[in-house]
Amino acid sequence: MEFLRCPVSAFLFPAFCFIIFFIFFPWKEQNYATHFPPPLVLSTIIKDLNNHTNIITSPSPSPSPSPSLQPPPLLPLELLSNFTPANESYNNTTVLSSTIMKYPSLEKIEEGLARARASIQESIRSRNYTSANRVNFVPKGSIYLNPHAFHQSHEEMLKRFKVWVYEEGEQPLVHDGPANDIYSIEGQFIDEIDNDAKWSHFRAEHPDQAQVFFLPFSIANVVHYVYKPIRKHSDYEPIRLQRLVEDYIGVIANKYPYWNRSEGADHFLLSCHDWGPKVSYGNPKLFKNFIRVLCNANTSEGFLPNKDVSIPEVYLPKGKLGPPNLGQRPNDRSILAFFAGREHGDIRKILLNHWKGKDNDIQVHEYLPKGKNYTQLMGQSKFCLCPSGYEVASPRVVEAIHAGCVPVLISSSYSPPFTDVLNWSQFSVEIPVEKISEIKTILQSISRNRYLRLHMNVLRVRRHFMLNRPAKPFDLMHMILHSIWLRRLNLRLIGSTSS
Ligand SMILES: *[C@@H]1O[C@H](CO)[C@@H](O)[C@H](O)[C@H]1NC(C)=O
Ligand SMILES: *[C@@H]1O[C@H](CO)[C@@H](O)[C@H](O)[C@H]1NC(C)=O
Ligand SMILES: *[C@@H]1O[C@H](CO)[C@@H](O)[C@H](O)[C@H]1NC(C)=O
Ligand SMILES: *[C@@H]1O[C@H](CO)[C@@H](O)[C@H](O)[C@H]1NC(C)=O
Ligand SMILES: *[C@@H]1O[C@H](CO)[C@@H](O)[C@H](O)[C@H]1NC(C)=O
Ligand SMILES: *[C@@H]1O[C@H](CO)[C@@H](O)[C@H](O)[C@H]1NC(C)=O
Ligand SMILES: *[C@@H]1O[C@H](CO)[C@@H](O)[C@H](O)[C@H]1NC(C)=O
Ligand SMILES: *[C@@H]1O[C@H](CO)[C@@H](O)[C@H](O)[C@H]1NC(C)=O
Ligand SMILES: *[C@@H]1O[C@H](CO)[C@@H](O)[C@H](O)[C@H]1NC(C)=O
Repeated sequence: MEFLRCPVSAFLFPAFCFIIFFIFFPWKEQNYATHFPPPLVLSTIIKDLNNHTNIITSPSPSPSPSPSLQPPPLLPLELLSNFTPANESYNNTTVLSSTIMKYPSLEKIEEGLARARASIQESIRSRNYTSANRVNFVPKGSIYLNPHAFHQSHEEMLKRFKVWVYEEGEQPLVHDGPANDIYSIEGQFIDEIDNDAKWSHFRAEHPDQAQVFFLPFSIANVVHYVYKPIRKHSDYEPIRLQRLVEDYIGVIANKYPYWNRSEGADHFLLSCHDWGPKVSYGNPKLFKNFIRVLCNANTSEGFLPNKDVSIPEVYLPKGKLGPPNLGQRPNDRSILAFFAGREHGDIRKILLNHWKGKDNDIQVHEYLPKGKNYTQLMGQSKFCLCPSGYEVASPRVVEAIHAGCVPVLISSSYSPPFTDVLNWSQFSVEIPVEKISEIKTILQSISRNRYLRLHMNVLRVRRHFMLNRPAKPFDLMHMILHSIWLRRLNLRLIGSTSS
């Protein structure tokens, strides 16, 4: 079971299909001044020798002349974690668009967002749950930073949020992704929002209706399909991935007005693969405003909590939408702390060195003994250790929450999911890497009352870590969408009236 959790390395895959990957016109340094690469004449990716599918073909030339006005430099975006959305006196949160005359639909969208901000601010002021008629559930209690604001914001999202999914590109690199295993959220999200047969509530029918724009890449699929055959280590460089995504942006920025008018600030890409963050490294300027929705939310590797979105890693066995809930009542949990997993990365090395096979209370296994059941053990433990592996996020956090086990985050530079709305210290424990040797004393020093509160809050927060297909209000998919919605809510696109 555990080996399934290790980050999938393309080295391990048999090379069953050959990818020939041509990129013409790689970006050059001098283009940075204009923020955009020159129009791509042609970029072609041929997948699967027998299939010969062109994923991106030459873009049709832009019908309208490109606007001569250069957008002004962008101002920093503000975080909405404390729910103080942009208003008239908050000039930092605005992005000027040079071509409003062409896009009157944008004014309507901004009007809607302004109304959403106003109603959220009103709910903060009045501490009232208005318009609670849409959904039965009402967030309450200390696990929320501001339950009223969150409630209202979620309502407004249900009412207004529309995502345009770019249609360019072909499967399996775009419009497809893994639906199982540790990168499952890539495939599940794409399937939820980009499925013609089951049209999502949040999917815009026309880009002019959309507040945000989704580049439906699966980085896990790109790594899986493009990085073959691997003959030498240098074949495994992120540059191919970077060019592919930059290429795609070049195509959509040429074909449609949406990227240019916000310089990508209302565009996003979602990835759970370790390489997700690397997408933007090749051309940081191009991705300056771009929203990266990532499992690997490592702030030491450029993850920006105000702009990017941290999402949970969810391990999904085939045909399941989550681990079973086998949690025991607090009194019946005989194990103080539990971990089982391989020695992936430095933090786990320290953990295993210190605790593997050392202490009955702190059950740390590299390999689970025969006959032991991982899920059941989580349900019998008070605390579940969730150390980072090869990337900062761990599927154990979601597994622990499902099992009613208080997650213990052992990581550094990790920005956990949904911190805009959830107060993690109410339902988890954080132990710094330097204190791994003190795990037992730290956990033992947690009073029974505090533990019971933590446990109860884990059960409360569970609904936000449940995956449903189709998505349901306040579930994991909605939480991801809500995080993206918040970042858009904190952005104002304003048209300049000058020519
Ligand atoms: C083309 O690819 C699809 C999936 O990517 C596969 O099911 C199909 O068998 C392939 N066709 C050929 C002729 O290899
Ligand atoms: C967007 O900007 C790029 C670079 O300035 C330009 O080449 C492209 O034509 C623009 N797109 C549109 C639709 O005007
Ligand atoms: C706008 O936001 C600022 C900062 O939060 C606040 O001081 C001000 O009262 C707000 N103005 C209006 C009109 O809401
Ligand atoms: C915000 O910008 C407007 C116009 O760009 C300007 O008139 C106003 O004084 C600015 N407000 C602040 C608080 O800087
Ligand atoms: C917002 O703008 C004000 C002045 O316009 C400035 O003092 C402040 O530092 C800016 N905030 C951020 C986050 O850049
Ligand atoms: C809260 O909402 C209820 C029902 O919508 C309303 O009757 C009440 O006046 C509101 N309270 C405040 C403080 O706005
Ligand atoms: C662990 O136990 C649960 C419930 O008894 C069961 O559904 C699951 O399949 C078991 N897992 C393994 C790996 O045996
Ligand atoms: C986070 O990023 C830092 C800086 O690159 C790196 O040293 C660290 O190993 C990363 N953490 C994980 C768990 O990958
Ligand atoms: C989060 O919860 C902790 C207690 O666990 C509390 O001290 C802190 O003030 C809370 N933070 C916020 C922003 O409410």
